[in-house]
Amino acid sequence: MTDPTDVDIHTADEAAWWRQAAVYQIYPRSFADADGDGIGDIPGILSRVDYLAELGIDAVWLSPFYPSALADGGYDVDDYRDVDPRLGTLADFDAMVAALHERGIKVIIDIVPNHSSNRHAWFQEALADGRGSAARERYIFRDGTGPDGSEPPTDWESVFGGPAWERVDDGQWYFHHFAVEQPDLNWSHPEVRADFLTTLRFWSDRGVDGFRIDVAHMLTKDLTEPLPSRAELEAIDSTTGQHPITDRDDVHEVYAEWRRVFNEYDPPRTAVAEAWVQTPERRARYASAEGLGQAFNFDLLEADFDAAAFRRLITVNLAQADATGSSTTWVLSNHDVTRHATRYGLPPLNGRHVKQGTEWVAAGGPEDQLDRERGRRRAHAATMLLLALPGSTYLYQGEELGLHEVADIPPAQRQDPAFFRGGEFDGLGRDGCRVPLPWTAEGSSFGFGSNGAHLPQPGWFAQYAVDVEAADPASTLSLYREALRLRRRLQTDEMLDWHDTGRADVLRFARPNGWQVISNFGTEPFPLGRDADAVVLATQPLRDGELPGEATAWLRL
Ligand code: BGC
Repeated sequence: MTDPTDVDIHTADEAAWWRQAAVYQIYPRSFADADGDGIGDIPGILSRVDYLAELGIDAVWLSPFYPSALADGGYDVDDYRDVDPRLGTLADFDAMVAALHERGIKVIIDIVPNHSSNRHAWFQEALADGRGSAARERYIFRDGTGPDGSEPPTDWESVFGGPAWERVDDGQWYFHHFAVEQPDLNWSHPEVRADFLTTLRFWSDRGVDGFRIDVAHMLTKDLTEPLPSRAELEAIDSTTGQHPITDRDDVHEVYAEWRRVFNEYDPPRTAVAEAWVQTPERRARYASAEGLGQAFNFDLLEADFDAAAFRRLITVNLAQADATGSSTTWVLSNHDVTRHATRYGLPPLNGRHVKQGTEWVAAGGPEDQLDRERGRRRAHAATMLLLALPGSTYLYQGEELGLHEVADIPPAQRQDPAFFRGGEFDGLGRDGCRVPLPWTAEGSSFGFGSNGAHLPQPGWFAQYAVDVEAADPASTLSLYREALRLRRRLQTDEMLDWHDTGRADVLRFARPNGWQVISNFGTEPFPLGRDADAVVLATQPLRDGELPGEATAWLRL
């Protein structure tokens, strides 16, 4: 449908592209494999830029593609200013950026500043130079406790399970909030700060448009002795800005410096913080215009498929974004959580396989309790609601195919350190959402590459393959393509008005430009009356002018 009052968001202010963007997360090692080594790569992404353009996204976010031993899927970075040789070269990266830009797609890359890998030149130097050396100052080294220092400095646990301190040959210990292979950097050190500014300029100069900042809330720490015990640490209020290791107010000094670098560019580079903090107010600090500018809002990802919860969380986050001048972000899936089609197909309690508060609960889920069809229906309804909200929406590769979590990966083939160490991401860990994408129903690794895939793909992937879904107008892929096409006309302003529907399980909102959205979270059909004629997109066909249960419709009134 065309309407002269519709505005394409791409004609809007160029510097504000990120405010209402649909961003597609690529997990490079599992997207497309061009050289047949079983690992996705940059040339693989380059070979699929037309697919991305046709999908209709505004930007891609690439999870780490840097040289890495893959102790944590690439979030253990050996060198922040290079490409993993298994994934390509800097020249390949430049070619990919150029091809995406040619199609009007922006590029966001992942920056992992809290920790390097233990193979990083700095950490190797710290090991070689030994106790008391300047090189150790870039990390967090401490002597142990106990009569001979053989006990760790504290009893703190790492996120992936096991102690957060590791002993090195000369008897000292270093702190790692995540895996042993991910030593935390010392953000009080001027060289650490300066080096990341170099990294941000390095990639900005290569044309990168924005950055996703990994665990943005953890960088600065106050490790003044005596250090608290684990129990004491956990009892400290983390909303005061003074917690020893998380969400400290002084972390924003780092981001103020980064903002000055972003603003050296035209248009300014953008950033989005991954900050698992306690309240929307604390999160807003990361999203300030003097800081990173935007922060992930994981509230809907953590919520059940429930109308009241959705309405409350949408309202709170829009108000928060409005108060800070940022725009909010919506996300249901990423590389750390069970795919939302699966979460929504499991009974509510089992469906919550994501971080809740400070706790992670099991990912994967019992296959025998999974209702795939229901999960798909609800995922369509929730995603179409998200895509119509003011703010930007982050989509995770494979969700446009309606992929489910792969729960039954044999332990010997799993890779996630969380699976092996049983930490906060307990249960099955995160491999199940990182299985390489199916591009074709036939052929080696479903078209992912010519020679297998680094995580095993189940037989049922065939029915979700891109070539199957592209040929089916009722597929998830066709729905995403249509929604993303229409979304460019829908997202013209950042306002939303709730309308009463007379039903607690049905939400309806209007955007001031005439678009309206109705989401039926219940199972009873919802009569649309005369508005049935205004429906331009529906996740399920209307029946006798009624929107079926677990469905969303977009209307143009
Ligand atoms: C990333 C994870 C990673 C962790 C440590 C998270 O926020 O999204 O995948 O394991 O940071 O870098």
